[in-house]
Amino acid sequence: MIPKTKFPKGFYFGTSTSAHQVEGGNNNDWTQWENKNAEHLAEVAQKNVRQWSELALDAQVKENYISAEACDHFNRFEQDFYAMKKLGLNAYRFSIEWSRIEPEEGKFDKAAIDHYRKMIRVLKTYNIEPFVTLWHFSLPIWFVKKGGFGSKNSPKYFARYVRKITQAIGQEVEYLITINEPEIYTMESYWVGKWPPQKKNPIIASRVFFNLIRAHKAAYKTIKKINPRIKVGIAKNNSYFESFKNKFVNRQLKRLADKYWNDYFLTKINDYQDFIGLNYYFHNRIDGWFYQNENRATSDLGWELYPRGMYYVLSDLKKYRKPIFITENGLADALDKYRGSFIEKTFKSIRLALQSGADVRGYFHWSFMDNFEWAEGFWPKFGLFEVDYKTQERVPRPSAKKYADLIKVLSQE
Ligand code: BGC
Repeated sequence: MIPKTKFPKGFYFGTSTSAHQVEGGNNNDWTQWENKNAEHLAEVAQKNVRQWSELALDAQVKENYISAEACDHFNRFEQDFYAMKKLGLNAYRFSIEWSRIEPEEGKFDKAAIDHYRKMIRVLKTYNIEPFVTLWHFSLPIWFVKKGGFGSKNSPKYFARYVRKITQAIGQEVEYLITINEPEIYTMESYWVGKWPPQKKNPIIASRVFFNLIRAHKAAYKTIKKINPRIKVGIAKNNSYFESFKNKFVNRQLKRLADKYWNDYFLTKINDYQDFIGLNYYFHNRIDGWFYQNENRATSDLGWELYPRGMYYVLSDLKKYRKPIFITENGLADALDKYRGSFIEKTFKSIRLALQSGADVRGYFHWSFMDNFEWAEGFWPKFGLFEVDYKTQERVPRPSAKKYADLIKVLSQE
């Protein structure tokens, strides 16, 4: 029998959010895009209504696609942190909104910086460790006008912002995440063209991708120069690619997918990362091509639920010999049918990975509360807490209690 590996002491049990998805009141490239596209997105949803689950009825109204006040987390963070504490969470991953800090090029907003400092202070009074993401998809308008991450100067602009933030909060944080999901951003914004700036251009896409590698390295060096004690990484979306029936073609496709989707960015920055942040959502079966589902349980977004894949993805990351934090993992599940057991099974997979020697140090569930799911808008519900957007009331779903119970058990092993 395999000995039951204990969860490491000091394991972080957290949740994850990002600024634009929860704060409300932002003014960035997404805000502009939402105002321009909301009506059209609602019309498309109306036409496709038969294909949508009933839960997605909200998708037919324009308001669904405008982040507006979102969860008003910007003003309600203290109340949210208190709820986290009550659940027994000891870590929180959130992002700083670049467009608030530097609304105009080179002009930094002191009040915005103080706001994030205050968030960190309050988290600390609750003994909740802040994991701070410096950039999670939304961008200042001036930066986009200069070409966004397609511009060769973008790493320099990013590093300037990172310097400012590190000077302001560097003494108070231990973990900084520079970039969230470089592949997803490049793909959605520059390859399939679903997200702003809606380009469908492989040449610009590859330019963006390589600039993100440069931007991360520049940020890493900047942070380390100011405070070498801070641990720096990225949040990387890795999938579990499974080659079916062990066919030759499938094995080759898996090799390519692993190499370019899972490993490429990490290999390029490996000398510039102190840990790996893993965002795990997808299992991809390969049988002649890539397929996600096999009539298994799916989330409200139609994504296959495959908590077992967490084990495979974590095992694969062992080769980097770095500590791993699972910076995101979760599902859209408005009725909370699957979330509780999904979390439980995911922790079984994490334990298996620990047994096999993976250095896993934390898990952040996506998400603390329902929020603005980018081009899908508000209808997909990823929250442990349900949010009533009219009153901003947060109500814990049963899975929140389940997660709290699991934390109690696992943290006392
Ligand atoms: C992103 C989040 C997003 C989540 C669910 C991740 O790719 O980092 O911003 O809400 O997945 O789709």
